[in-house]
Amino acid sequence: MKTHILFFAVVTSFSHAQDGVIDLTQLHNYANQSRPAYIANRDNTPVNNPITDAGATLGRVMFYDKRMSRNDTISCSSCHQQARGFSDTAIASTGVAGTTGRHSMRLINSRFGNEAKFFWDERAASLEAQTTQPVRDHVEMGFSGASGDPAFAELVNKLNAIPEYRVLFAMTYGSATINETNIQKALAQFVRSIQSFDSKYDAGRAVAADNQPFPNFTTSENNGKALFINPPGAGGAGCAGCHVPPHFDIDPNSANNGVIGSLAGGIDLTNVRSPTLRDLVGPGGSSNGPFMHNGAFTTLNQVVAHYNAVPNNPANTNLDNRLRRPGNQTQNLNLTTQQQSDLAAFMRTLTGTAVYTDVKWSNPFDANGELDVIILPGSVESSLGAQNATFQMSCKVAPGLTYTVEKSTDLQVWTAIGTATPDAQGNITFATNIAPPQAFYRFKYTP
Ligand code: HEC
Ligand code: HEC
Repeated sequence: MKTHILFFAVVTSFSHAQDGVIDLTQLHNYANQSRPAYIANRDNTPVNNPITDAGATLGRVMFYDKRMSRNDTISCSSCHQQARGFSDTAIASTGVAGTTGRHSMRLINSRFGNEAKFFWDERAASLEAQTTQPVRDHVEMGFSGASGDPAFAELVNKLNAIPEYRVLFAMTYGSATINETNIQKALAQFVRSIQSFDSKYDAGRAVAADNQPFPNFTTSENNGKALFINPPGAGGAGCAGCHVPPHFDIDPNSANNGVIGSLAGGIDLTNVRSPTLRDLVGPGGSSNGPFMHNGAFTTLNQVVAHYNAVPNNPANTNLDNRLRRPGNQTQNLNLTTQQQSDLAAFMRTLTGTAVYTDVKWSNPFDANGELDVIILPGSVESSLGAQNATFQMSCKVAPGLTYTVEKSTDLQVWTAIGTATPDAQGNITFATNIAPPQAFYRFKYTP
């Protein structure tokens, strides 16, 4: 991969939506995205890592960069594909050394949930802690430091040698220092920024409460909604007890749901988290991948059939009590075929559209896998002192880097005449006494 880092006003003819171009003067809006009023709470953003536009941009570049794996073949996006709601259609995803032990999870609305622990078995204490686990995993991205793999410190060295990262880290943190903590923070910011609230459900929820029929829903969808929300004792299917509307995030107290097969063979009772039930299927109606930690089901009707008659396996000592019935029995809802399709129809209303195509969550690299240009901020203000012939130039640049000051008389040939370093906010200034002939000056970042 090669990178050109340009700094100067001349490059503004590039469109910032173009592949291979990161324009730090026109960042996408990650920090202040609008969302429905009913989604204000259940936000797992820690106080020390709010989303910033620069941080999420850095996270986006790393998320799509195959150099984040030990042999440059796998990125986060290999297993979390935008067109699939950031999941994968394969039951097990392919990493640098084999396939994953569980199915990939959709990364939709990860920010919004009462459960702040991540992975199907909730083994990551936070999203920040989660983000470098795939990097350190022997199978997934391979910086495990064991089994002949390079250690995580070698990834840090690798990133330090890539000029675009020095610029992006400097833009985000005010210093070009790269370490695991600031890698985690930026990746978590990007993942938290991925949100989907433009579904048919949201259009209905905007004008009616969950326990009222939605005017934009079909009868089947409204019936499915009632079944989803009402508890089994009240003629419902009790889904909302664990997948809580309007976020459809998992109840932190959930135990497992009776799906206990492990892809490695045998049983696995530890899977107590689900991603939000939003965007289970894509806008075209096809599923974003098989469902559950082991990809056990390929259709929503199969999912509903599972809950309609939860398997009674005495080996499952971690089945949630809500799915148990007195006398060592398990849930049997006796839903009609119509009710089962109503539930599936309701779940299909939870799918949005923008998240599948919005450029800000897309691959920033071009077709050759290269990031061609990073445009640094810089609006130059120059003043030509009439009396004393002092020239001062100041502008805003990425902090934490050193810039060469160059001079030209024809805008063609540039000669270095010194260096300049910005302050922590990125303000950089250069002053000189000028002598005829008139000259042009610029700051340039040379990797
Ligand atoms: C080789 C495939 C693969 C790669 C590469 C990969 N993931 Fe994953 N991801 C998975 C699988 C599989 C799971 C579920 C694993 C589990 O629970 O044991 C998962 C789970 C997650 C989760 C948890 C979601 C939740 O709701 O709990 C997050 C967040 C995540 N990945 C982010 C990332 C990031 C960031 C990267 C890149 C640094 C990445 N993944 C790289 C396959 C992958
Ligand atoms: C006791 C809590 C609980 C109840 C009640 C419950 N679920 Fe779940 N659900 C879970 C858990 C835990 C998972 C993740 C399990 C796994 O992958 O092994 C899950 C997973 C799912 C998934 C797959 C998500 C994915 O990303 O693959 C769907 C779909 C789903 N549930 C729908 C429903 C429906 C519909 C109902 C009501 C009929 C329901 N659930 C009731 C706890 C529950």
